[in-house]
Amino acid sequence: MGVYVLGIAGASGAPYARRVLEQMLVAGHDVKVVITDAGRKVLEVEENLVLTGNTEADTPVLLEWSQSEQSTDSVEMYHHKDVASPIASGSFPFDGMVVVPCSGGTLGRIAHGISSGLLERAADVCLKERRRLVLVPREMPISLIHLRNMTSVTEAGAIVLPASPGFYHNPTGIDDLIDMVAGRILASLGIESLVMKPWFGPEPSSYSDSEEGIH
Ligand SMILES: Cc1cc2nc3c(=O)[nH]c(=O)nc-3n(C[C@H](O)[C@H](O)[C@H](O)COP(=O)(O)O)c2cc1C
Repeated sequence: MGVYVLGIAGASGAPYARRVLEQMLVAGHDVKVVITDAGRKVLEVEENLVLTGNTEADTPVLLEWSQSEQSTDSVEMYHHKDVASPIASGSFPFDGMVVVPCSGGTLGRIAHGISSGLLERAADVCLKERRRLVLVPREMPISLIHLRNMTSVTEAGAIVLPASPGFYHNPTGIDDLIDMVAGRILASLGIESLVMKPWFGPEPSSYSDSEEGIH
């Protein structure tokens, strides 16, 4: 099974991270987690998840939050200042990384190679080793600076996957919207999941004959 890095930065969208973590574990992968200080703040605000920054104590709390039934062996947390941890080195093999949610600040630092913490360094490693890196920014509206940073990371090989769920699957609740983003993230990393619902066109009954052909 694979080894994936899950970075959580301080943008809105903590529920996406929860679903991605759960599904990575359900698929049998090992997950290395690194969370910025602002990421911890957002987890508290949006998910009522209180992490102390002590990774040993936080690991079981994070695992319970993910709602997966995997043992703590599958999840390893690193402190975002621990730049001596394995994922800071290209010599440590991992299959890919996602930063979800990704703040404008973290996006900018990755785009400029400013590895001031472990999350950015691990992303930098992904780019230099030509490994899959998925960044999930959440901002509205977005500035020219954000756009330029998205262009830079895309040119360097990353996938920018904005947290903007579509509505063509006729979501019936927030969970469906979360799954739409989480499913695309997992698919971009090459991880199979039931969360990803491919689009095969509209149900025949969902539009009338007179509307046929109008899209
Ligand atoms: C509740 C909350 C929501 C936030 N939402 C966003 C957001 O959606 N996008 C963003 O770029 N920053 C957002 N921020 C601001 C970032 O957290 C802030 O810029 C921080 O310095 C980013 O740090 P990091 O990149 O180290 O995680 C939010 C902050 C808080 C507390």
